Amino acid sequence: MRQPAPTPAITATASFQSLQAHSASLRDVHLRQLFAADPARFSSMTVDAAGLLLDYSKNRVDATAMGLLMDLARERGVETQREAMFTGEKINLTEHRAVLHTALRAPRGTRLVVDGQDIDADVQDVLQRVKAFTDKVRNGSWLGYTGKPICDIVNIGIGGSDLGPKMACLALRSYANPGLEMHFVSNVDGHDMEATLSKVDPETTLFIVASKTFVTAETMLNANTARAWFLLEGEEKDLAQHFVAVSTNTQAIVDFGISPDNMFPFWDWVGGRYSVWSSIGLAVALSVGFEYFSDFLAGAHAMDQHFRQAPLEQNMPVVLAMVGFWNRQFLDCGSVSIAPYHQDLSRFAAYLQQLDMESNGKRVTKDGMPVDVPTGPVIWGDCGTNAQHAYFQLLHQGTDITPIDFIAALRATHDLPGHHDALLANCFAQSEAFMTGKTGDEVRLDLQAQGLPENEIEALVPHKTFPGNRPSNTILMDQLTPTTLGALIALYEHKTFVQGVLWNVNSFDQWGVELGKVLAKKIQAELTGEARPDHHDSSTNGLIALAKAAKAA
Ligand code: F6P
Repeated sequence: MRQPAPTPAITATASFQSLQAHSASLRDVHLRQLFAADPARFSSMTVDAAGLLLDYSKNRVDATAMGLLMDLARERGVETQREAMFTGEKINLTEHRAVLHTALRAPRGTRLVVDGQDIDADVQDVLQRVKAFTDKVRNGSWLGYTGKPICDIVNIGIGGSDLGPKMACLALRSYANPGLEMHFVSNVDGHDMEATLSKVDPETTLFIVASKTFVTAETMLNANTARAWFLLEGEEKDLAQHFVAVSTNTQAIVDFGISPDNMFPFWDWVGGRYSVWSSIGLAVALSVGFEYFSDFLAGAHAMDQHFRQAPLEQNMPVVLAMVGFWNRQFLDCGSVSIAPYHQDLSRFAAYLQQLDMESNGKRVTKDGMPVDVPTGPVIWGDCGTNAQHAYFQLLHQGTDITPIDFIAALRATHDLPGHHDALLANCFAQSEAFMTGKTGDEVRLDLQAQGLPENEIEALVPHKTFPGNRPSNTILMDQLTPTTLGALIALYEHKTFVQGVLWNVNSFDQWGVELGKVLAKKIQAELTGEARPDHHDSSTNGLIALAKAAKAA
């Protein structure tokens, strides 16, 4: 069989080389100058789609840079790769899988057959099961073993089987059923499970065991602990009313003792970090109800349609990806900070960490060759305004440049007076401050107006000067709703996809998490005494010895 020709290194492409030359010409241009030179910069550098607005004008790019970035996107095959994903080609090469999270949110009747599987029929079938089950729990007709309705839901899962549902339940708490308390246990650390079990009652608690593979060590241990805790009060026959499972692995669910009737399946073409749209979103559907869950899917679908159809220049995920690529490549930005100015998005940065870093934290191309440029940046962040009082100092005056994504809703979902204006004022003020900075002369004028002596002014000027010229995006929505949350997540999914195409990495595998898992199994056996201590390095040996001594004491 003829192998396809390897994709050329990104640095060998004509558009990359043009970009490199152009970036050098912009190196000493300040964002203030770019704004001064073009009064229409905001309107020409904003994109609207699926209920979101992206303002990327506060990035150190001009129209030429954007044009060249789009040339690069075309040269790297973003359009063909995008179509390959949507149509179910096996673009996850190392696992021989299609990548079809977009099919989970496509409207009923969207025909797609992959490897003989009628994707639409299967997706709709599971959605109907999710609807029937969540309706019953929410209307109180699903009863616990003593005949009481369910009032606590505990989702047991980790990674994509935790981060998505937890983030979305928090984000949509204004739409939630107040009668259902949502809990999430992910960590193998027993403190996590213990803290949750201490708050719930076995008679009225429903556990969702969420695991794509149903072999993840943390989730299996937590699920067994929850089962043992339940059996202190209930009996084996009662488990069916209190344990449901979400997985691709039916046999493992049955082996665990959960009835197949209580199983909500999904498929290997849904990556863990892209799975909140599948039955992994069961906790979300329980919390907000099936109607709002459907709106959540519809919001993501609207972004999918935009991503698939809009020309690259007006394509929000493409623009976000290309500006991010520019910052990573030409401004040497090793991290991106996510700053949602919305408390309900408090887990959004954590969610994006897995989405982006597990997808594009790669060092070899799909052809197995080292990538010749830096790939995925570190993603981190926290909500404004809290972040302002914690680490924004470094972002304003530190020596590294960290691009920031500001995310805000124009209207709040509460009606407390005064708060929302204060919140938005801070959000816009920060993006302005990062962009403009404050020159030494401006600092001098301020201090002179305060009447400070000249020698004190000169001593203070370097400390009070802000370089500015720090890139940021602002993403606005009218309100944080199930629909806009769906669109926002899909925006970042597609951004991640586009960057993966540029770097020619497989954004859909995660082999990097395996080595630690294997070593942990080995060390666990040494800690429990099932295996004799092996020859590790002196540090690992020393740490194991300390843990064994503490256990024996
Ligand atoms: O170890 C990483 C990972 O495979 C993630 O990609 C995934 O989201 C998480 O573990 C949980 O996996 P599972 O849903 O199979 O338990």
